Amino acid sequence: MKQVNGPGIPLLAGGIGLIVFAAVVIGVFSYKPHAILQGALPVSGPRAPIPVVDAATVDRGRHVYQRENCSGCHTMTGTQIGAIPDLLHEGQRNADIPWQMSNLREHRRIHPNSDMRNYDKLSPEDLRALASYLATRQ
Ligand code: HEC
Repeated sequence: MKQVNGPGIPLLAGGIGLIVFAAVVIGVFSYKPHAILQGALPVSGPRAPIPVVDAATVDRGRHVYQRENCSGCHTMTGTQIGAIPDLLHEGQRNADIPWQMSNLREHRRIHPNSDMRNYDKLSPEDLRALASYLATRQ
């Protein structure tokens, strides 16, 4: 009796096949071009490099943040309490200013049942400044 291939070979081949299959499935489902999203927004923004924003805009954004009482829900301490994201390092997660603007203006399109309302009454300047302030938190 001469056994050339032990039972290990087909098992190994099957295992590799499964891994490749899983990778393809995960790849297909995490690929979300805008055409497929059809108007929906991704849950998180790109991890782009932290944008360079002038100090006056950042100051204005900080002022809007305080005026709108975002800190009624969010902390900015680096320590998240409960389910509401801490925003101290928000720019490290979502550094894209247009994404930040969308997340503020139409938050409930991303999170339909969110406690956070849509900030769609801000002036365009305030909205951009607030988004810039968030995107530059590193
Ligand atoms: C009533 C509570 C509440 C208020 C007020 C609120 N938020 Fe939120 N915010 C949330 C919750 C909860 C989430 C997590 C996603 C979700 O479930 O909506 C969130 C998510 C976010 C995110 C995404 C964070 C991440 O990295 O995933 C940003 C940025 C943000 N809020 C900014 C703001 C700003 C700026 C204001 C003020 C204009 C504000 N929020 C006011 C509750 C609130």
